[in-house]
Amino acid sequence: MGLAFSKIWQRLFGHREMRILMVGLDAAGKTTILYKLKLGEVVTTIPTIGFNVERVEYRNISFTVWDVGGQDKIRPLWRYYYENIQGLIFVVDSNDRDRVDDAREELQRMLNEDQLRDVVILIFANKQDLPNAMTAAEVTDKLGLHAIRGRNWFIQSTCATSGDGLYEGLDWLSRTLSGKKS
Ligand code: GTP
Ligand code: MG
Repeated sequence: MGLAFSKIWQRLFGHREMRILMVGLDAAGKTTILYKLKLGEVVTTIPTIGFNVERVEYRNISFTVWDVGGQDKIRPLWRYYYENIQGLIFVVDSNDRDRVDDAREELQRMLNEDQLRDVVILIFANKQDLPNAMTAAEVTDKLGLHAIRGRNWFIQSTCATSGDGLYEGLDWLSRTLSGKKS
């Protein structure tokens, strides 16, 4: 009954909720992205040990974004956040050529997780302001994204400190979610 009502409400007013998990290697820029979206400001971050969670309203969607720390010792904790998410944001430091292979491994590991079978995947190729940054096309190649089968994914160039690209990414998530049956 409650569920039926909320479905009708959604159809009438189009308001939806989306639970998002944001991960990626340490220093990729996740916490910077979260607070740029939430506050419109660049905050001074320290490495996240644990998680931050914020609600971000955008268009007709309320995004609950979980930002989980990416240091290698705490990456095994990501899986505790897999349940009930609809979208995954995977953040890459496009300037970190030395670790892009590690990023690919972590992403591929997640793609193999049964619990994440139905989530849509947004990749942020972040730190595009740095002169030596890989382009989104290079990041696509290095992460092996074209080999992904049967998944809805999208890569967006971003600069978390200026905010460039962040809302384009959320636009894709909201369009993709609207097109999906809940
Ligand atoms: P963990 O919490 O350790 O997993 O890292 P994180 O992914 O949350 O990274 P965080 O947001 O703390 O950013 C790490 C550093 O990168 C900070 O000094 C940020 O200011 C910087 N940074 C984040 N995004 C950008 C960007 O787009 N461009 C540049 N130049 N620096 C950025
Ligand atoms: Mg962080």
